[in-house]
Amino acid sequence: MTGTKAKRLIRALNGEATDRAPIWLMRQAGRYLPEYRKVRAEAGSFLDLCYTPTLAEEVTLQPIRRYGFDAAILFSDILVVPDALGQKVAFREGEGPVLDPITRAEQIDELDGSAVVERLQPVYETVRRLKASLPTETALIGFAGAPWTVATYMVGGRGSADQAAAKLWAYRAPGEFQKLIDLLVRATISHLIAQVEAGAEVVQIFDTWAGSLPEEQFRRFSIEPTRAIVKALHQRFPDLPVIGFPRGAGALAIDYTRETSISGVSLDTGVSVGWAREALQTLACLQGNLDPLLLVAGGDEMRRAVGNIIGTLEGGPFIFNLGHGIVPQTPPDHVAELVETVRGWKG
Ligand code: CP3
Repeated sequence: MTGTKAKRLIRALNGEATDRAPIWLMRQAGRYLPEYRKVRAEAGSFLDLCYTPTLAEEVTLQPIRRYGFDAAILFSDILVVPDALGQKVAFREGEGPVLDPITRAEQIDELDGSAVVERLQPVYETVRRLKASLPTETALIGFAGAPWTVATYMVGGRGSADQAAAKLWAYRAPGEFQKLIDLLVRATISHLIAQVEAGAEVVQIFDTWAGSLPEEQFRRFSIEPTRAIVKALHQRFPDLPVIGFPRGAGALAIDYTRETSISGVSLDTGVSVGWAREALQTLACLQGNLDPLLLVAGGDEMRRAVGNIIGTLEGGPFIFNLGHGIVPQTPPDHVAELVETVRGWKG
């Protein structure tokens, strides 16, 4: 445990002081890196890349080699869970994920929750390989999508700006929709437990579309499923740090953080860091929240924003990150500049 305890990211999530803010970036492996695009082209499809442990390991390590981040995040996707449940998932060039949408209650019953861990064995093999190949100071993060966010893709059949298909089902037939959420809670628990057993030291739960829900449904379909997942994880692994990303939750992030018992909360770009310091930092370690487009722009504006985030949040447990994932047009040099700025920051 001493090795694990010494890692900056884990110290911060345990509320301990760190010599400097740990840094990693959402989507740190991906298309902005030429070496990723090369492996991606060799792999064929995106899912083939996710399910080929040697290649998934390689693309996870690429940003660690370049930038020496304090954490590596397993290379996979939140949509491997619907894939493992038996829903057809494809990633189309320039279009993003496309799924055969689930539109009727009987289709929920046809999904096979019992096979998830067996079907996702290649993902856990990637975790085991990473555990062996990562530098000893680098923490390994596993992840899953939150049930609500995964459901928006399963029901909508693709990404959408308003998540209308899933919301309408949840409003018209909440009991039916709840069955899908419950199935996803169980599948997500199994998937995350398997990642931790394989060597993940921290897990992050991505609720990318949490912010589209009104309060009542936010409590029912975002907070409650996440609370159930964290509880099951902690029954099995009492000390496991869990990071939640309730993107767009606004002030409901307070109840989300308190009620789910997460150790860290990832702040989206729109959150005021001054507000977060007062409202959230006594409840959990804060992670965030540079605008990914400031990373595209780079230069003085980016450095000023970084200084503002660190200056505001460094008095408590804090992990530097973006407010959402890196975008493909990000110049790799700007990431190097960001890492240097964070490492060299003096208040
Ligand atoms: O480096 C990492 O962060 C680890 C890997 C990771 C990916 N997706 C790889 C990926 C993680 C943690 C995710 C999470 C994810 N996937 C989320 C939640 C976080 C967020 O960004 O909101 C969501 C909503 C998805 C679903 C998904 N996967 C979409 C909507 C897309 C298409 C959009 C896009 O960026 O292309 C993907 C594809 C995807 N997942 C890519 C990568 C690197 C790009 C696909 C490619 O290389 O062709």
